[in-house]
Amino acid sequence: MKHQIEVASPEETERLAMRLSSLLQPDDLLTLEGDLGAGKTAFTKGLAKGLGVKRTVNSPTFTILKQYEGRLPLNHLDVYRLEGSEEDIGFDELFSSGAVSVVEWAQFIEDYLPKERLAITIRKTSDTGRIFKLTPSGERYETLCKELAL
Ligand SMILES: Nc1ncnc2c1ncn2[C@@H]1O[C@H](COP(=O)(O)OP(=O)(O)OP(=O)(O)O)[C@@H](O)[C@H]1O
Ligand SMILES: [Mg+2]
Repeated sequence: MKHQIEVASPEETERLAMRLSSLLQPDDLLTLEGDLGAGKTAFTKGLAKGLGVKRTVNSPTFTILKQYEGRLPLNHLDVYRLEGSEEDIGFDELFSSGAVSVVEWAQFIEDYLPKERLAITIRKTSDTGRIFKLTPSGERYETLCKELAL
């Protein structure tokens, strides 16, 4: 089952991310897909804020992975630069370390991703309008989506 929500502003994106963050558990995996500027990093910033991360969250494009401390540790990955490469930076360990993991441009490392995850796609409808589509795979993420009650 798919879950969809339309937001009208960056503030609403933040609110949505913060709502989701309050439901997250260790080893939860969220994948983010959407064009350049869709709001993948903006959404991650909201998640981090909701997880109580104090440090500033930036796009990790040039480092692939950034890790933050919060209520749960947060792994923020942007794998844009791994398109077409077969580099495994130790994904299995990252996704089972007890942290919440968020992966921007997840389609580029499809082969390394656990099947069970919450896939989030973001589509731009206007300057500040976005549609978030959430597709849960696996029981854990079905439950998460039910709790989020979109
Ligand atoms: N409703 C909205 N939700 C999220 N971002 C929005 C929204 N409206 C406008 N924006 C703006 O869109 C931009 C989103 O940029 P962001 O870096 O989050 O995109 P991205 O998907 O991570 O891009 P990239 O592929 O380059 O990593 C920001 O400048 C943000 O202020
Ligand atoms: Mg980004």
